[in-house]
Amino acid sequence: GAPGAGKGTQAPLLAQRLGLAHISTGDLFRDAIKADSPLGREAKTYMDRGALVPDDITIGMVVERLRRPDAIPGAILDGFPRNAPQADALDRALAAEDGRVVLAPYIEVPPEMLLRRLSGRWICRAHSHSYHEIFNPPAVAGICDEDGSPLYQRDDDKPDIIAARLERQLPPLHDVVEHYRRAGVLVAVDGDQPVDAVTDALLERLVAAGERG
Ligand code: AP5
Repeated sequence: GAPGAGKGTQAPLLAQRLGLAHISTGDLFRDAIKADSPLGREAKTYMDRGALVPDDITIGMVVERLRRPDAIPGAILDGFPRNAPQADALDRALAAEDGRVVLAPYIEVPPEMLLRRLSGRWICRAHSHSYHEIFNPPAVAGICDEDGSPLYQRDDDKPDIIAARLERQLPPLHDVVEHYRRAGVLVAVDGDQPVDAVTDALLERLVAAGERG
């Protein structure tokens, strides 16, 4: 899905329900920035401009993460792939381990709604749980319902960076959607409905795909 479509809201819920690893490239980059690692310092220069981090950095990081034991039974990838070269690289990396993309859920949200979602978003410091000041508020303002940690607004949720993210990242996202449509694994879900309804729609499709193997 596009920036703000609800990937970070839905992916942890689905991963927990399905017993799969949750791998978010945005979270991996933000962890690297927090650790002030060379990867984090380089990624930040792109994220601060709303650009995609270069493929050579991103693909290697995801492939390495997919090899960790918790991801061997399967994983929900959140925010990856983001362009056609990443989608091709993922197919190759999985095929080398006799794996494949089982389903590519696409959370569809009208562009005008993405801006409203991102500009009202608050994230928890401890585990990146995602809230919205109007659409999905925490029970206590500024505090995560799940783990009690403080909420903050992301640096790239400033209006000018949101605009850059949408302008730069929507065209390559369409290539990814086409990639999976051609592969016959794309499942588009209406993301412009309440969080629970989106979760139910996604779960229904994921469970059915799992049963088909
Ligand atoms: P990343 O962290 O992946 O950001 P993103 O794709 O821009 O997505 P967001 O996290 O902004 O949105 P989301 O879809 O997770 O929405 P959320 O659930 O929070 O990436 C950040 C940066 O890292 C990128 O810009 C790029 O630079 C780099 N990067 C990451 N992956 C990369 C890759 N593969 N290649 C290269 N570079 C990469 O929801 C948004 C808001 O809406 C929240 O407030 C939420 O509470 C609310 N909301 C959610 N669902 C609903 C609903 N159903 N109804 C109402 N409100 C809702």
